[in-house]
Amino acid sequence: MSMQLSAAPRPPAAEEADLLMVGVAEGSSTDLADQLGAFGAELLSAAGDDFSGKTGQTAVFPSFGRVAASRVGIVGLGNSSTTSLREAAGHAAAIARKKGDTSLALSFGDLDTTAWNAVIEGVHEGAYVFDRYKAESSRKSALAEVTVLGECNSGDGKLGAAISAGRALARDLVNEPAEAIYPESLANVALALASDRIQVDVWDLARIQAAGMGGIEAVGKGSDRAPRFIHLTYTPAGKARRKLGIVGKGVTYDAGGLNLKPGGGLQTMRCDMAGSAAVVGVFRALADLQPDVEVHGIIGAAENMLGGSAYKLGDVLKISNGKTVEVHNTDAEGRLVLADCLAYASGLELDAMVDIATLTGACIVALGEHYTGLFTSDNALADEITANANASGEGVWRLPLAERYRDKLKAEWADMKNVGGRPAGSITAALFLSNFVENTRWAHLDIAGPAFADKATGHFASGGLGAMVPTLTRWIASE
Ligand code: BES
Ligand code: MN
Ligand code: ZN
Repeated sequence: MSMQLSAAPRPPAAEEADLLMVGVAEGSSTDLADQLGAFGAELLSAAGDDFSGKTGQTAVFPSFGRVAASRVGIVGLGNSSTTSLREAAGHAAAIARKKGDTSLALSFGDLDTTAWNAVIEGVHEGAYVFDRYKAESSRKSALAEVTVLGECNSGDGKLGAAISAGRALARDLVNEPAEAIYPESLANVALALASDRIQVDVWDLARIQAAGMGGIEAVGKGSDRAPRFIHLTYTPAGKARRKLGIVGKGVTYDAGGLNLKPGGGLQTMRCDMAGSAAVVGVFRALADLQPDVEVHGIIGAAENMLGGSAYKLGDVLKISNGKTVEVHNTDAEGRLVLADCLAYASGLELDAMVDIATLTGACIVALGEHYTGLFTSDNALADEITANANASGEGVWRLPLAERYRDKLKAEWADMKNVGGRPAGSITAALFLSNFVENTRWAHLDIAGPAFADKATGHFASGGLGAMVPTLTRWIASE
């Protein structure tokens, strides 16, 4: 990612670029006329009646030499909210990505710090492409230079840039095939983030066994690739204002185990480490932002396969906090991995922790692909997460951590079963996790929907989306 993004209050008409995109607020054409004179009005009429300036609407034309850019387009800014500006920037960058433009100029007016960060995020979201396995000849040129033609305080874009770098890393990790990202190699990516301020501890199988982490061990047993437990710690230079934890599901491939998934379900299950990718992505952002918060990133990494040593139905597992689990479905593996992670994190005396996981298909049924399910009994923590998601333009929706369903997890032979039946499947998964949280404020994020897109969605290319990297980074770094 070698994109240069800068701001300069220059007139758009004279800006040389492959593509110039001019923002138009909904129901207003005056800005455009101001920016491009008579040509602006012509563009607007060429775009037709369908173009009303709604967020994400675009129309692109050859510039016919009327402005310095090769192509010129208009993009709807909607109500010019932070979210709209982010999306508009994303759509502009996505047009550049699809065409293979190397330079893009955006004319969205003057931007305050919040808007400037959002535009930076949007540009990176839209420009992102994962094409390293394609023939060089079929790859489009990458967007190398983006200029925002307005008064923005360039130095204030640190948050947007850090989030963008973290999000791109998370997307890469999800997009990489499971043969490239498996527990050991995922740990190596985490290790590469080690620095003065970031410490990374990786536990191998022997250490996992010694710690009594029977969940991570069991899930990893059916694979030739041994599991890893990963603990990242970011320590601020000065006194820490808070001590927070983020816990990620790192199932680098989820075949389902002996409860083998059907073919369609297997195709994209390299995405099942998206929670851990988000944790790594957030740490990438923390490295740049250096907030005055101590942060612990905990990842349980395992490959859920069905080799000869695979864990079996009816097995009784012992999680590291001593609780036992009867296995009723080897495809409900994420909660087993997270159980050990949450039990461990509960011992760190955190002020609060959030786990993030592609945990249940039921969450996709409930909320669709654009919403993360949020589960917590802590209203203040729910509000913190929701506020930061809103600031990030990410969808989260709270679902009940409903005690009345806890009975569904009752087991005959052990303390609990690992599944609670089809109804309320996301809720019983969250309730299962709650058994491993002790004395710590905790929220669970189910990103099964927004972690991965089978097809391009909005300004995002298909594949890993880096879901919740912006929200969690803001949660940690914002006052
Ligand atoms: N990783 C899956 C959940 C998932 C499904 C994520 C689709 C992204 C897209 C998880 O491990 C799983 O298989 N969950 C089961 C739980 C069931 C066996 C109780 C599910 O959702 O079917
Ligand atoms: Mn599964
Ligand atoms: Zn899974």
